[in-house]
Amino acid sequence: MDSGRKVIVQSNWKMHKTHAEAVAWIEALGRAAGAIPGERELIVCVPFVHLRAAALAAAPHPVLSIGAQNVHWAPAGAFTGEISAAMLADAGARYCVVGHSERREHFGETDERVNRKIRILLTHGIRPIVCIGESLAQREKGLTLQQVKRQVAVCFEGLMSAEMERTVVLYEPVWSIGTGISATAPQAQEAHRFAREAIAATYSADAARAVRIIYGGSVKARNVSAIMAGEDIDGVGVGSGSLDVGEFVEIVKRSCPNR
Ligand code: PGA
Repeated sequence: MDSGRKVIVQSNWKMHKTHAEAVAWIEALGRAAGAIPGERELIVCVPFVHLRAAALAAAPHPVLSIGAQNVHWAPAGAFTGEISAAMLADAGARYCVVGHSERREHFGETDERVNRKIRILLTHGIRPIVCIGESLAQREKGLTLQQVKRQVAVCFEGLMSAEMERTVVLYEPVWSIGTGISATAPQAQEAHRFAREAIAATYSADAARAVRIIYGGSVKARNVSAIMAGEDIDGVGVGSGSLDVGEFVEIVKRSCPNR
């Protein structure tokens, strides 16, 4: 059944690429994307320093959107080394990843901070891509769905239904990120369905129907079609599999936009 939700294929370069490499990658994706049939949105989340150049390179290709990988929660202030939502919008970011598990692990990001970051992004017209997902220990203890429910409750607390609709949820089991071990299609579908039901219970049926929930964690060209089969899976987030633009184009082609 067609959900009516436009498929997202998101790339997160993490801390990779020089300026020249960044521009060449986006130009190559722009050239290739025009020839791939089907409707989808391609979101490329780049390091801060490449935002403006990436947005310029993406401008001739409406299918491409540029995103950032983090933001500070305050509008402005004495936060040396940080970047505000206003700066991101000014540099051309239309999306921003928040709560990535690497930021949670290495930089102390909490669900409460994620909530503040979501709010400031929405204020500046940037759509948040909100990462949630369980650790291996939580999965082994049977706590996966509890973790999904808790993160949905805390990260999105206080949002209005229309704001919820503008966010993207990126379900990324921590044990699958950068490990080469992706969740199976049924594992991913179960978590996505559960997250959508939690959103329906807290917000509205409309918000749950509209919000896009995408899967991340070791997505490659070889496994993307299987993962996309679940009806609550609205796209994929790709890290290491997107550093090479050829592999990413292959993932886009196999992302089943007409399901
Ligand atoms: P990965 O990273 O594709 O390398 O597992 C995914 C992510 O961090 O979004």
